[in-house]
Amino acid sequence: MNIILEDEAASVRIVPAGDPLNESTEHAGSMTIPTVQKTTRTAVAARDITKTYGRDDTKVAALNNVTVAFRPGDFTAIMGPSGSGKSTLMHCLAGLDTVDSGQVAIDSTIITGMSDHELTILRRTHVGFIFQAFNLVPTLNARDNIVLPLDLAGTNVDEEWLNHIVETLGLTDRLDHKPHELSGGQQQRVAVARALLTRPAVVFADEPTGALDSTTGAEVLELLATSAREMGQTIIMVTHDPHAASYADRVVLLKDGAIVGHLENPTADSVLNALAELGE
Ligand SMILES: Nc1ncnc2c1ncn2[C@@H]1O[C@H](COP(=O)(O)OP(=O)(O)O)[C@@H](O)[C@H]1O
Ligand SMILES: [Mg+2]
Repeated sequence: MNIILEDEAASVRIVPAGDPLNESTEHAGSMTIPTVQKTTRTAVAARDITKTYGRDDTKVAALNNVTVAFRPGDFTAIMGPSGSGKSTLMHCLAGLDTVDSGQVAIDSTIITGMSDHELTILRRTHVGFIFQAFNLVPTLNARDNIVLPLDLAGTNVDEEWLNHIVETLGLTDRLDHKPHELSGGQQQRVAVARALLTRPAVVFADEPTGALDSTTGAEVLELLATSAREMGQTIIMVTHDPHAASYADRVVLLKDGAIVGHLENPTADSVLNALAELGE
């Protein structure tokens, strides 16, 4: 069992030198997004984040002092028993939810303390999302769905990059189709293309194959792995499926709101064993 304990992992890569979270926090919330410099070796980092729901008797510590960093180009799966804090962690890392304490940085910008408006702009320019339910706009064809985030940001489409993504995803002859004219797998590939087109610092995928049959799901996972390997895309995927996690470069294991281990080069078996050790 090659689970790396959190302490060991921390000495290897958690919050490395040059991480924005190691620097002064005076700039928290300042807007440097359009000209942000890649001064950090981490695409996403969380330091000591805590998130509690409810109060008094119903108080639940969903995240308990979580510190974790994700390197550019890494494909990471977040796994753990139901209720272990996977969704909460993803939402806090993506700026969809706020933390009670601690800090989160995306692409060297500290997002903790940003206003909703600042977060919206940062997400639009720096974060891609892939959800189980595809979340395509039904009235728009595939191409318009793919370029929607750039349209919203008022940014020109890099046609060469769009063509490259569309070809890689096998969508070239589907661009004029509306979502209801596409299979589930094709719809998810449109969502993947939409997430990749802005060259975001990170793509968050929440159970991206949950609504797909296993063959189509394997194709989508292969595409995610390819975009990490060949396009350097950082991907953080929440999943409960050990087979899906086996496509990632590493697995981060959560239990009771805390990171309890990592798996490098996971296989479905090593993930199953690790989850069994967590008592799932
Ligand atoms: N909006 C919420 N209100 C109250 N409790 C919540 C809320 N969201 C999550 N929780 C609780 O926080 C814990 C972690 O939940 P979650 O992050 O959804 O776990 P997972 O995604 O691993 O199943 C659970 O105990 C859950 O019941
Ligand atoms: Mg969840």
